[in-house]
Amino acid sequence: MTQKSNTAIILGHPVAHSRSPIIHSFWLNLYGIEGAYITKDVSPDDINVFIGALTPQDCVGGNVTIPHKEAVYKFLQHHTPQALKLEAVNTLYWEEGKLIGHNTDGYGFISHLKASVSKKISTFENVLILGAGGAAKPIIAALIDEGVSAIKIANRTFARAEKLSAQFGSDKCQLDPICWDDISQHMISTDLLVNTTSLGMSGQPPLSIDFGLIPTSSIVYDIVYAPLETELLAAARAKGAHCVDGLGMLLHQAVPGFEKWFGKRPEVSEELRDLIVSDLEKSS
Ligand code: ATR
Repeated sequence: MTQKSNTAIILGHPVAHSRSPIIHSFWLNLYGIEGAYITKDVSPDDINVFIGALTPQDCVGGNVTIPHKEAVYKFLQHHTPQALKLEAVNTLYWEEGKLIGHNTDGYGFISHLKASVSKKISTFENVLILGAGGAAKPIIAALIDEGVSAIKIANRTFARAEKLSAQFGSDKCQLDPICWDDISQHMISTDLLVNTTSLGMSGQPPLSIDFGLIPTSSIVYDIVYAPLETELLAAARAKGAHCVDGLGMLLHQAVPGFEKWFGKRPEVSEELRDLIVSDLEKSS
C-alpha cells in the first residue's frame, strides 16, 4: 500500500511571498513532528485539474490563498458549514478519503480579537467595517456568530456593501451599508472599527480617510500586516484607541489546519510572532 503523505501544501498564484510555510515549519519543529509544509504555485487555469488529481498520498491537506479561494470552493463537493457560508475555502483536509473545503479566516479574526481585548465581543454596539470584498465576509460572519447585533459596512462601491448586508443581515444582526464618503460621520460613535480592505498595505494606495474622529475608547483592528503599523493604526494609537494589528489573524487562522493535518493543536506564541515580524522587516 502506498504511504500517506505527511506534507501540507499551500496553493496560490503567486505564493512565494506567503508566510504560512514559516508558521507551520515553526510548529512542526517545535512539536517534533515529522512533516512538511510547502508552497505550490498553481495558475487559475490549472487549479481545478490540480485539486481534482490530489490524493491523500500527495498531501495531508493544506491551505488555499489568493486567487483560488472561491474557485476551490466551487470545485469541491464537500465543505464545512464555515466554507459553505462564505463560499470560499482557505483550508483543505481529508476525511474518509474525501477532500473537505474549510474556512478558518473568521476563526482567525475572532481568536486574535479575543486574545487582544478583554471586552466581550457581543457587547460591541457600533461596529464599522471598511470594505466589502472577500476579506470582509468571514469577519462579518464571525462577528455575527459572536452575537454582535448591528454592523455598518462602508465600501467604495456601495452596491457591494448592500449585497453583503442583504446576504448576512438577519433578525439576529442588522447590517447597514453606508457610503464610503460618510465614514467620518459614522466613525465618531464606533466602538469597533475594522479595515478589511487592502488599502494601507505596502504597494497599495493609502486608506485616505480622516482618522481624526476615531474615538479614544474604540478598538481599531487593521487586517493589513505589512506594514505591521499601518497609517490607520498609527493614527488610532495617537488618539489613544486600542489597536489590533493583522498579524495575529494570520497566525490564528493557521491553528485549525495544523491540528487537522498533524494531530496537535499548536499555540500562537510571542516567539512565533517575533519570527514573522523579523521576516516582515527583512522584506520591507
Ligand atoms: P476582493 O477582496 O473581493 O478580492 P478587492 O478588489 O481586493 O476585493 O478589494 C477589497 C476591498 O478593498 C473592497 O472593498 C474594495 O472596494 P470596492 O468594492 O469598491 O472595489 C476596497 N478597495 C480597493 N481599492 C480601493 C480604493 N482605492 N478605495 C476604496 N476602497 C478600495
